[in-house]
Order: sequence, then C-alpha cells, then structure tokens
Amino acid sequence: MTMAGNKRGPGPGRLIAGKKIPRHVAIIMDGNGRWAKKRYLPRIAGHRAGMRTLRKIVDFANEIGVEILSLYAFSTENWKRPPGEVEFLMRLPEEYLYKELPLLIEKNIVVRIIGEPAQLPARTQKAIKTALDKTQKNTGMILNFAFNYGGRTEIVHAVKTLCAEVGRGRLSVDEITENLFEKYLYSGGMPDPDLLIRPSGELRISNFLLWQLAYTELWFTDVLWPDFKKEHFWEAVLDYQLRERRFGGVSKF
Ligand code: IPE
Ligand code: IPE
Ligand code: MG
Repeated sequence: MTMAGNKRGPGPGRLIAGKKIPRHVAIIMDGNGRWAKKRYLPRIAGHRAGMRTLRKIVDFANEIGVEILSLYAFSTENWKRPPGEVEFLMRLPEEYLYKELPLLIEKNIVVRIIGEPAQLPARTQKAIKTALDKTQKNTGMILNFAFNYGGRTEIVHAVKTLCAEVGRGRLSVDEITENLFEKYLYSGGMPDPDLLIRPSGELRISNFLLWQLAYTELWFTDVLWPDFKKEHFWEAVLDYQLRERRFGGVSKF
C-alpha cells in the first residue's frame, strides 16, 4: 500500500497520490433500528440519531470534493413498517430540511430527489419541493435523496415512459439503447455511482440503484449508520482508491 499517511486522521492529506476521489458516492443509510434497540430506545430514536450522521457525512463529502452524494432514505418496501414508524420517517425530510436548508444553500449544494414523491404526504412533498426550488440554481455538490425509491419501480417506470413514446410514434424500438434508457431513469443524466457504502453489516443492495450499480465498487461495514463517522467514509474512499476498475477489460498492470 502506498498511502501517504499522516497522523492527523481522515482528510485529503491521506489521499493516495494520483488517485481520484469518487465522483459519485451512494450510501444505504442502514442500522438505525438496531442502534436504538441496543440502547433500549424506540426505533425512531435511531432514525433521529441517523439524521445527525447524515449532517456530518454531507459536510464531509462536500469538503473532500464528492460531486454527487446519493442517499437511500426510504425504500418502496419501507411502507411495510409499523404505521407509527412510517409516519415518523415521512416527517424527517421536513425536519431535516427545516434545519439544514439554509446551510445547504450557503454551501452551494443542489438537492435532488429520486423516487416517487407524488405518493408522499402533502407536507413531505412541500418540504421536498421547497428544497429543490431553493437549491436548483446552486452549482456545487448534488445531494440526491432516494425517498420512496425502488430500483425495480424505477426501471418499470422508465420502460412505461419509453413504451408510451413508441406508442405515440415519437421513438422507434430500434432507437432504444443503454444510453437512451438511462435518460428515462429517475437519475437520468447523472453518472453512475463509483462507490456504494452500506453500513450495518447487511451484504445486499435492497433494491437500490439496480441499473446504476452495474460497475460500482461496493464497500460494506458492520458499523451502524448512527455510529458511522467521517473516518469510516474516508476508509471507504481509501479502499476505493486501491481498487482496480476494469469494467470487463484486462488489467493495466
Ligand atoms: C435504516 O435503518 C433507515 C430506513 C430504512 C428508513 P433501519 O430502520 O432499517 O435500521 P435496522 O436495519 O432496523 O437496524
Ligand atoms: C434499505 O434498508 C433502505 C434504506 C436504508 C432506506 P432496509 O433496512 O429497508 O433493507 P433490508 O430490509 O434490510 O433489506
Ligand atoms: Mg434496515
């Protein structure tokens, strides 16, 4: 390992010379419930603690020059949870954005959403819309929340939209390519994630960015999301820098 290490802890000082920071990092923010259970607290206390981690990680990603940070916050399968928990999770965007929006604006961050916001409670939709509107002219890091997001739903949605275009005669079947298909995803136009981080010890994707993760580097840790620190983020980035991405080709070395 040729790591230019220093004793100041995580930070660009430990960047491996010549290796890049991943442009797009995706995170499955998991383990809030188990964090709370370990402390004999209700699950919602875990979600609140997870929100504190979220604030720190958004800041850190922005500081080190990540261009897009995609965060899985609520899946299409999370509706199966007890109504009280779902209700709490639906209020979180409002709470988070109420506190953070002025800072996000100040930091030139652009908020985006992938998923189906139309199915969310009116108050949640309003908070999200305000954040999108107030940050749309910003030019810095894209903070992309996956809220009411499911990878399969996203693909079906893209297929339906494409089929409708073909039906109207605006597109022919032969024109459908991988590049075109990608434009019809919620994330259309964004580069694919370079690095996916999943805390909490689960070794699965849980219906996150199924199309986009085709060649993403995966990084797992047992640390629960509320305990996840910038040190862990940095460890994931360093690990990423040591990997060779071949995209199906052959080794350069
Ligand atoms: C992730 O934490 C947050 C959401 C899915 C909204 P969990 O609530 O899934 O936490 P665990 O997996 O039960 O510990
Ligand atoms: C994935 O976590 C969804 C989010 C973090 C929002 P889950 O806790 O829902 O995933 P499973 O059920 O463990 O696969
Ligand atoms: Mg979970």
